[in-house]
Amino acid sequence: MRKILRNVTDFICNTPLIELSNTWNGDGKNGRLYAKMEFIQPGCSVKDRAALQIIKDAYKNGRLTAGQPVVEMTSGNMGAGLAVVCGAMKNPFIATMSEGNSIERVKILEALGAKVIRVPQADGTPGMVTGSDIARAVEKALEIAKERNAFYVDQFNNPSNVAGHYLTTGPEIWNDLDGNIDAFVASVGTGATFVGTSRFLKEKRKSIFCAPAEPEGAAILKKGFVVNPKHIIQGTGYSMVPPQWDPGLVDDVITVTDEEVEMQTRLLARDEGLYVGYSSGANVCAALKLLKSGILKGNPVVVTVLCDTAYKYSTL
Ligand SMILES: Cc1ncc(COP(=O)(O)O)c(C=O)c1O
Repeated sequence: MRKILRNVTDFICNTPLIELSNTWNGDGKNGRLYAKMEFIQPGCSVKDRAALQIIKDAYKNGRLTAGQPVVEMTSGNMGAGLAVVCGAMKNPFIATMSEGNSIERVKILEALGAKVIRVPQADGTPGMVTGSDIARAVEKALEIAKERNAFYVDQFNNPSNVAGHYLTTGPEIWNDLDGNIDAFVASVGTGATFVGTSRFLKEKRKSIFCAPAEPEGAAILKKGFVVNPKHIIQGTGYSMVPPQWDPGLVDDVITVTDEEVEMQTRLLARDEGLYVGYSSGANVCAALKLLKSGILKGNPVVVTVLCDTAYKYSTL
């Protein structure tokens, strides 16, 4: 990381790993648990790196030009990342967002210069956004993209989303640990964090155990069906297999309940001083289940992701 930054985009990527030594086994004899501090980026989430890759690639391949508007459906974090990057690049940014996402998220995007269009929920409730709610917000984004001749980001289908993690998150983890990693755990929204990072890590060493984390009631990856699409892990668990999903990277799927996630998220703040959001709690919860399962032999090193900050939520 440079000491003097040209602009805010230079502060995206290169996040540190932190050992969660008050959460798992401070003496390091039964494995170590590390988490990547994604919430310290300018948009305060893991999505900054994907946003930067998407915009950089869109300029490179001519799909985006100077001053052209950018449109995306977002649960908030991709929106914040895009608002930061588009602000720096001087492209106007319009976000469509389900009304189920917290109002704090809308305010953040507006403060960052984005125009936010809120879309009524299909079957979710405030704080609990379902796959059908997302579909509605996507429809609205497509409509606006057509009207405004805007670049439609399409994070679920855009390969640059996965590439951002393949090119940055994976190599950063590998290099920071000098290749001393046995497992990677991440929750799944578009799936880019899990797929991009796991693909890179498995190319380095196929035996690295890669496990997505899912809400217990919406465990489409684990069970193939959904019992309850509502859960507290905003930004993940949309009750569908993401279009860029790669089942060949999955060694096991770990499910977590809302109660476990809520508790773990609070413990991260209390015990580690890490005031992070629910998907971070879900990731740590799943990583702990993996460590306790005994599947990993020896003194395993497990890495997960602290996706965003709890300051984005009114309920924590
Ligand atoms: C809070 C949070 N956690 C996790 C994720 C999942 O990231 P990905 O889309 O790379 O699967 C997201 C995605 O928006 C998110 O907002």
